[in-house]
Amino acid sequence: MNQTSLHKLFSQKKSKNNKELFDLRLATNITLIQKQFFSLYPEQQHQKHFQKLLDLLPKLFTLRPEELKQQDFDRLKSGNWYQSEKIVGMQLYVEHFNKDLKGLHKRIPYFKKLGVNFLHLMPITTRPKGESDGGYAVNNYLQVDKKYGSKEDLLSLTSAFRKNGIYLMLDFVVNHTSNEFSWAKKAMKGDKKYQNYYYTFEDSTIPAEFEKTLPEVFPETSPGNFTYVPEMKRWVMTVFNNYQWDLNYSNPEVFLEMLTNLVKLTDMGVDVVRFDALAFLWKKIGTASQNLPEAHNLISLFRMCLQVVAPGTILLAEAIVAPTDIIKYFGEEEKRGNECEVAYNASLMALLWNSIATKKTELFYKSLMHVPAKPKDCTWTNYIRCHDDIGLGYENHLIEEMGWNPEMHRKFLLDYYCQRLDWSPATGMLFMYNPKTGDGRITGSAASLLGLEKAIATKNEGLMEQAVAKIIMMHGIILAFGGIPMIYAGDEIGTLNDYSFKKDVSKKEDNRWVNRPMQNWDVISKLNNEISPESKIFQTLQKLIKTRKEQPVFADTNNLELYHTGNNHILSFERTQENKGLLVICNFDENPQVIDSSWIKKLGYFSKGEPLDLVSGEKIGLSSGLLELIPYQIIWLKKA
Ligand code: GLC
Repeated sequence: MNQTSLHKLFSQKKSKNNKELFDLRLATNITLIQKQFFSLYPEQQHQKHFQKLLDLLPKLFTLRPEELKQQDFDRLKSGNWYQSEKIVGMQLYVEHFNKDLKGLHKRIPYFKKLGVNFLHLMPITTRPKGESDGGYAVNNYLQVDKKYGSKEDLLSLTSAFRKNGIYLMLDFVVNHTSNEFSWAKKAMKGDKKYQNYYYTFEDSTIPAEFEKTLPEVFPETSPGNFTYVPEMKRWVMTVFNNYQWDLNYSNPEVFLEMLTNLVKLTDMGVDVVRFDALAFLWKKIGTASQNLPEAHNLISLFRMCLQVVAPGTILLAEAIVAPTDIIKYFGEEEKRGNECEVAYNASLMALLWNSIATKKTELFYKSLMHVPAKPKDCTWTNYIRCHDDIGLGYENHLIEEMGWNPEMHRKFLLDYYCQRLDWSPATGMLFMYNPKTGDGRITGSAASLLGLEKAIATKNEGLMEQAVAKIIMMHGIILAFGGIPMIYAGDEIGTLNDYSFKKDVSKKEDNRWVNRPMQNWDVISKLNNEISPESKIFQTLQKLIKTRKEQPVFADTNNLELYHTGNNHILSFERTQENKGLLVICNFDENPQVIDSSWIKKLGYFSKGEPLDLVSGEKIGLSSGLLELIPYQIIWLKKA
């Protein structure tokens, strides 16, 4: 049952007798839970496991802290907080931000100053020493790694967040554990039960069958999808790095244990669970083992169970796949609205970078205009950068429709961003480049990719101005696009690439670390007193965030429409709410661009005189019938 239906049911309830509400939620969801469970684990063999699940749910509910049960109740009554215009997010590495959890606690005033009230903390649980994929190789799902502090520090932080109205998102690395996880250690010692928690094989016959159709995630550093483990004399599936073992969800015991871990994670005060790499959850020979229908059933099963036990918690899908595949993680047909409430808008992100490099918006329109509408209780996380690389996941047939060759186009983008074109302002790095296929991805901080690093190095004032304008425009888009805008820590002050990873043996093979910088508190301490690119970016974002929070039209009620302007350098979309409207127009070109303004008039933006641009604070006059935008300008036009 989706959030709205539950909300209606709960608003009718006077009592908040916890157990009664739990029973009600179980009764409403049980049919779908049972159906999904038996679709994955056939009824004939797995009645016993289903009974185990039925016994587990009330146990998990009993363990949930009272304060959070109350919060669940309040959230169900008050509707979907994650679609509100009041929410603005930031993603950060605790150790790079301010040392540890206690240090982060002290920075709550900084978030308030900027207007951020939703935080995604990168993994903080125990992980192997040395390489650990930034903590995405998990030794334990619940134990805080000493370098971040203790479980008490986390609890005190989440409690402070609640008091300060800050929502918390943590990862649930649901697809794999590290090779040091207790199950993996037991498997290595020969324990058959735990060998069956992973995909392990005595010889390479089945792995070879899988390999025929499995793509590679890290072809440069971790080629192949299986690793031979001499300790157990078996092969194990390792789709990501060789120290990340894929969990075998065809074993219902794995699902039950992982559900327990998931609920206990939320019991620490996590509001949003980031379901990491969820597209990979189900494997099948003869397929790419991504986005399989069983993966969707499994996610929905997790979701329904969470809905019963901890209904105030929501799920975010980290599915960096094609636009039409991403949308499926909101759930389709009977699962519609019953998978993840939020998903990364990876399509928007990748298309923005395409538009920056090409200075054109045609692919943006083509790609986003045919994506089906999302369910109304679901929303996006809109972002321009995160800790990962930028993948060029555009649809080939759309590139071809524009008369471009997809391979050559991708090559151009890699050349543009990864310092293979003299004239390009971008300073990015090639990630996982495969010379055989020419495939590759891009790393680098937003500011460096948008030209600030080169502008500073060459002391080029014009380039500097453009880079700052681009950084602001890109953020202006994600702040207005509907859903949760997620700023990547450091981008609010235009932080450049950090090359220190090259000196660290555990990081040097993975250049995603170039865009995982230390938060620069020295720069931040001077923001108010200096006229610098950093203060311009910070102050503008601060203002845009404040403006967003004041205008309910920014809330996501599926109220977004893209508009063609007839000018291929311009992107325009409108957000509407009853008779209110906000028209966003931006120029991706390095030259001024002009558009005909009659359609803006038709939309009613001039019915009460000249409309206000909320970005510049100035009124926009259209007496000439034309609207001109300077390079990389973004306008938020408000319908009076
Ligand atoms: C996700 C994370 C990425 C990690 C991968 C494997 O894609 O964002 O950083 O490498 O999962 O866990």
